[in-house]
Amino acid sequence: MFSTQFTVYFLTVLGSVVALGPAAVNLRSAANYAILAKSGVSTVPPSVITGSVGVSPIAATGLTGFSPTVDSTGQFSTSAQVTGKLFAASYSAPTPSTLTVAIGDMGTAFTDAAGRVNPNFTNLGSGAIGGRILTPGLYNWSSAVTIGSDVIILGGLLSGATDRWIFQVSGGLSIAAGARVTLAGGARTSNIVWVVAGTVSAAAGAHLEGVVLGKSSITLLTGATANSRLLSQTAVVLQKATVTN
Ligand SMILES: *[C@@H]1O[C@H](CO)[C@@H](O)[C@H](O)[C@H]1NC(C)=O
Ligand SMILES: *[C@@H]1O[C@H](CO)[C@@H](O)[C@H](O)[C@H]1NC(C)=O
Repeated sequence: MFSTQFTVYFLTVLGSVVALGPAAVNLRSAANYAILAKSGVSTVPPSVITGSVGVSPIAATGLTGFSPTVDSTGQFSTSAQVTGKLFAASYSAPTPSTLTVAIGDMGTAFTDAAGRVNPNFTNLGSGAIGGRILTPGLYNWSSAVTIGSDVIILGGLLSGATDRWIFQVSGGLSIAAGARVTLAGGARTSNIVWVVAGTVSAAAGAHLEGVVLGKSSITLLTGATANSRLLSQTAVVLQKATVTN
């Protein structure tokens, strides 16, 4: 399974000094949030979120399980589960308009990432990519993608820190319990984008790297971890999960 990818890697990736893979996806102000969602973010405590959380157009009632304390300015709240601030469309100005822009930017980023053409890899593994080594490039699946066992996202020896990956998934993305997506070769999570039309789910103890642009819900079950931004056009559901931005 690895041999063809390794050959490509050694011939083109290992020695490249210029960044490989598609042009960056500009998240604009959506990059100010570790988690951003339109219809809600819920947690079964204790989750650990490093970065800020935003919900819009739903009001603060869309923040579930955070036991938030609203700041005296009324512009944000805080929670023991969040290193950063929580923002909702019902908070005081300028928060609602700031969130409206961020939600718009999230949609623009989704459209950009999903609209990239001429993939380097089409329907790799028929969507079952456990055990794969993923070199830089644009990947497109017209199906769901399942990660049943560990996957490595591998950058080039000289270019790894600037190499980029876009994974376009037309179905859902599911990561099996305990399966880990990890980085090697200097690859950076901020240079990786999963653009997913269906639901995203990480089962217990799974680990994900990369920005997730979800058209649907994103769920991290018990003990799942993500070095990531979770940007959903519906809801984000956390159960004792860790999201580090
Ligand atoms: C995969 O590529 C096709 C053809 O370019 C495109 O229509 C589709 O939107 C892509 N899938 C995703 C999830 O971006
Ligand atoms: C990916 O495909 C693009 C467009 O065909 C090409 O320019 C680029 O070299 C490919 N990248 C890799 C890493 O194969």
